[in-house]
Amino acid sequence: MTTAMVTGASAGLGSEYVKQLAATGWDVIVVARDAARLEEAAQRARGQGVTAEVFPADLGVRADVERVAERLRDPARPVDLLVNNAGMGTGRGFLESDLETQDRNLEVMVRALMVLTHAAGEAMVARGSGSILNVSSIAARTASGTYSAHKAWVDTFTRGLARRLRGTGVTATVVRPGLVRTEFHDRAGLDFSDKPSFVWLKTETVVRSSLRAAKKGRVTVIPSLRYKLAWVISSLLP
Ligand SMILES: NC(=O)c1ccc[n+]([C@@H]2O[C@H](COP(=O)([O-])OP(=O)(O)OC[C@H]3O[C@@H](n4cnc5c(N)ncnc54)[C@H](OP(=O)(O)O)[C@@H]3O)[C@@H](O)[C@H]2O)c1
Repeated sequence: MTTAMVTGASAGLGSEYVKQLAATGWDVIVVARDAARLEEAAQRARGQGVTAEVFPADLGVRADVERVAERLRDPARPVDLLVNNAGMGTGRGFLESDLETQDRNLEVMVRALMVLTHAAGEAMVARGSGSILNVSSIAARTASGTYSAHKAWVDTFTRGLARRLRGTGVTATVVRPGLVRTEFHDRAGLDFSDKPSFVWLKTETVVRSSLRAAKKGRVTVIPSLRYKLAWVISSLLP
């Protein structure tokens, strides 16, 4: 059996990662703050015939991040796939939001992702196998506040890491989803109800195509043709 750790596994894309991984026989470790929702995700996975470990942690708290990193380093219980998925929108412009929120978002989406990638990457390279899948965003292409800056960091970081990992048996993949129907926008207080239906992706689509890309060891993946085109067109614009 192979084991995957998914951060932000209590909702949205994270719970879909757990579902699809469990459906293909992966044991799972689910990480997020909401222990009750993690337990529900774990129960669903167990119902699919795999083992599921519940690991409540706030990735905005350094001591919690270190506990998760320790779990990834444990040689007795190897983790074969790390999905760094936890994240959130700020919902306001930089100067309109408080610095405390900005600081926490940076800790979760950048620092925790870096620390967990380091812990998992070291253990995987020592074993000669493993995959890391980092969730960025199409927003990495735009200059719209700290969220897009964090996602651009994840994108650049993962592509550089993938190059350094060549020949080790370990791969790193970054996924750049467009808009996905999850709790993300409500949590951030963003009203996107005026967006046309064609811009919305299903969690199933994003998760399926990113897991396929990670399995093949691809470095980048943009789920759906429309967002691939959006990425290319935006790169041609001033
Ligand atoms: N939805 C979109 O349109 C979209 C587009 C592009 C990229 N993304 C990215 O996709 C990823 C998943 O987002 P989503 O759309 O699935 O949003 P979501 O439905 O709001 O889920 C976010 C997940 O992150 C977890 N999380 C938030 N803060 C955390 C913390 N401090 N510590 C640990 N876990 C934390 C939440 O769990 P708890 O509350 O239980 O901690 C939840 O499981 C994010 O990285 C997001 O930036 C989303």
